Amino acid sequence: MDGNPDSRGSRTANLTPCFALSEMTESDLDQILILERESFPTPWTREGFLTAIRTDFGRGWVVLDRDREERSVVGYLCCWTRRGTIQVVNICVAQSHRGRGLGRLLMQVVISWAGIKNKKRVSLEVRPGNLPAINLYQNLGFRHTGSRAGYYSDTGEEAFLYELRLDKVAESFSTRPPGSKRTPDGPDRTRDQPATQKAVDDAPQGE
Ligand SMILES: CC(C)(COP(=O)(O)OP(=O)(O)OC[C@H]1O[C@@H](n2cnc3c(N)ncnc32)[C@H](O)[C@@H]1OP(=O)(O)O)[C@@H](O)C(=O)NCCC(=O)NCCS
Repeated sequence: MDGNPDSRGSRTANLTPCFALSEMTESDLDQILILERESFPTPWTREGFLTAIRTDFGRGWVVLDRDREERSVVGYLCCWTRRGTIQVVNICVAQSHRGRGLGRLLMQVVISWAGIKNKKRVSLEVRPGNLPAINLYQNLGFRHTGSRAGYYSDTGEEAFLYELRLDKVAESFSTRPPGSKRTPDGPDRTRDQPATQKAVDDAPQGE
């Protein structure tokens, strides 16, 4: 990867002295599945991530810890392309690396990529109680556009729908550099429903 998140064939770009961005690969999945199980009560299976890696509508990136000699995944994001929208369907930062700007970094990658792809918006669903994630999205300029009743099959919770209009994107970037620690780590660690092609098909219209 040459720093352009659109370059699917090439692989890794150093973002900071500590972290690099890379295309998600199948060889990352064992590490990702460990982080996934640590972070979510209803973790995605390997197949969900393979969809992000192998399909035309799917896309996945990982953040790598450059201090480690081996390829060490400390965060990841998956999204689906759906007509004029990029839908973020999974984002996670390792518990040991939260509060250092990596979640924001991953979101900025997908927002940049949506711009490169000439998409009109970036959308996502989040549990109403997931305050770290909601703060992250709101600080990037995402707006609450509605709710979807009974979205999360494990608890029956509704989903809050958030959307970023890309004509507003210039206002959305804030300045804390990746790697600088925020404190304290928050208590809320909840889970979004695993994404499927059906979830893509069921996503809100509104072009
Ligand atoms: C949500 C998540 C990805 C955030 O990643 P992160 O790397 O810790 O977040 P960042 O350090 O980039 O923080 C960016 C912003 O998010 C918000 N945020 C992050 N952690 C927070 C916390 N514990 N409490 C409140 N707000 C928080 C803040 O607005 C923060 O900006 P600030 O530092 O300027 O205040 C991470 O907590 C995570 O992986 N959670 C478990 C998985 C999950 O819930 N994913 C989202 C599903 S919708």
